[in-house]
Formats: sequence, C-alpha cells, structure tokens
Amino acid sequence: MAFTGSPQPPVLKAGCRILASGNWELETPPHSCPDPSPAYLDHALEFTKPPSGTDAVVVARDVRKSYDSRPVLRGVSFTLRPGERLALVGPSGSGKTTLLNCLGGVDRPDSGSIQLHGEALETLSSDGLARLRRQRVGTIFQFFHLLPTLTAAENVEFPLQLLGTPPAERSARVDALLHRVGVAHRAHALPSQLSGGEMQRVAIARALVHRPGLILADEPTGNLDTANGENVLALLRELGDETGISIVLVTHSLPATRICHRVIHLRDGLIDREESNPA
Ligand SMILES: Nc1ncnc2c1ncn2[C@@H]1O[C@H](COP(=O)(O)OP(=O)(O)O)[C@@H](O)[C@H]1O
Ligand SMILES: [Mg+2]
Repeated sequence: MAFTGSPQPPVLKAGCRILASGNWELETPPHSCPDPSPAYLDHALEFTKPPSGTDAVVVARDVRKSYDSRPVLRGVSFTLRPGERLALVGPSGSGKTTLLNCLGGVDRPDSGSIQLHGEALETLSSDGLARLRRQRVGTIFQFFHLLPTLTAAENVEFPLQLLGTPPAERSARVDALLHRVGVAHRAHALPSQLSGGEMQRVAIARALVHRPGLILADEPTGNLDTANGENVLALLRELGDETGISIVLVTHSLPATRICHRVIHLRDGLIDREESNPA
C-alpha cells in the first residue's frame, strides 16, 4: 500500500520506529511475545503510514440508514484520527453493528458520507468497496469467524492470498504475526482445536496481516471469559500503540472502553454523548 505524506500516528511508543521510507517497523520482538520471531521476519511487521490529503482515517457525516422504512442510523457524524481507538457503546439494537458495517463498506448508508482514508465510500462501485475493504480494513468478530477447514496459519494467510501477495512474503508475515499474538505454537491447528482466546488471537492476526489502517471490532470479547477477554483487550491496545492503527471497537464491556481514547454512546441511531478517555 502506498500511504505517504501524512503526520505520524500520535501514539508511537518505544519498540516501534518509522523508517526513512515512511513505513513502520517493530524494533525488537515485543515483551508480550512468548517466542520471539527470527530476525529475518522483523520487516514483516512493518506498517504503512496513513495516506496524504487527510489527517483522518474515517470521516463520517450525517450517516443515515433505515431497514424496511425503520430508521436505524439517524444522522451519525464523527472523525477518527490515525492511531485513535474509539469505543462504540449503546443498547442492543441502537445501530452499532449497522454503523460498523457501513464504515467497512459491507453495507451502504441511505444518505450521508463516509470517507475512509480520504476515499468517499458512496462514490465507489461494489467492486471498489470490496477492494477498499480488502486493502484498508481488518475486521474482528464476536464469534471469530475463522474458516473451519483452514489451519490457524492458513486463516491468517487468507487475506494476503486475496490480495495476490507473493508466497514468501505471505509466509513471513503470517509467521511474524502468529508469534506476535502468541499463538505460533498453534499455527497448524484447526479452529476446532483452539480455545476461544486462541481463536480470537488468530482472528486478530488475520485482521492485521494486510497492514490495514483501520480495525473494526464487533464485541471482540463478547464470547470470551474475563481473563481471555482482558488478554485480548491488552493485545489490541499494545498492537494499536505499536502500529498506529486506528480501531473502532463495539462493546458492552467497561474494561473494553478503557483501552479506547474516546467513547461514543449511540442511542436510537444517534450519538447520545461522547467521552474522552486517558487510554
Ligand atoms: N439486515 C437487516 N435487515 C433488517 N433489519 C436490520 C438489519 N440489520 C439490522 N437490523 C435492525 O436494525 C437495528 C439495529 O441493529 P444493529 O445495528 O445490529 O444493532 P446493535 O449492533 O447496536 O445491537 C435492529 O433493530 C436490527 O433488528
Ligand atoms: Mg451488534
């Protein structure tokens, strides 16, 4: 991806550096990595900078969406900056998943505008939306959505296959990410042989492997016990800080909102209130 020219993500911390090329690199295997990657894999965790022409990863303006004439989103506007983590909270049925689907180009708003990395989604064809989603967005689900007949490593590799990434590069990135999320020892296991926590770690690796600028996570701890949920949240926070990736996190859980810089409360398809968090 050729993202160039935009300011550095604001949350860069020790252990990660920006190369002369503008891309990202982890300096050392992170402390939470139980089995450090071989040195030749270091480059595989490189992340690209956000694009020129905008400081924002997402600009949503007056987004409206109805199903069967029933309004679900009634004019939602917000901006998401590079490196920012935003929690979306609200009662069941308040439109959180619908908004996430619109942000990721899975669904289209009836009106309003969503810019993703400066591209207005409403101007894109279905193919254009699919391309943008494959290149720029990573998604994490409550129920993991791993492909059951593929191993953990093959699941992580899948987005790179769709993008036509060469095999050696695919393998390097998959190895590096499985190490980073702490499941390298389960690389050849099928999803049915993994615990919930392991499945979500694999899903996080899959969401990051193509180095998107945005992660959309829909209740990613909703199907995990407390300890595994906290581990997954800590991992998302670390990865966000290390890479500068932006995250929109739909959640019902208070601990999950604490890893976010901002919290937007949705109610009946509208932003009810917004809080800032010292994440
Ligand atoms: N594809 C759809 N067709 C019809 N109604 C839908 C569809 N998706 C969501 N809805 C309705 O829109 C409302 C908001 O749903 P959703 O965005 O999933 O809420 P949340 O994620 O906040 O629980 C709900 O009443 C739901 O039934
Ligand atoms: Mg939902």
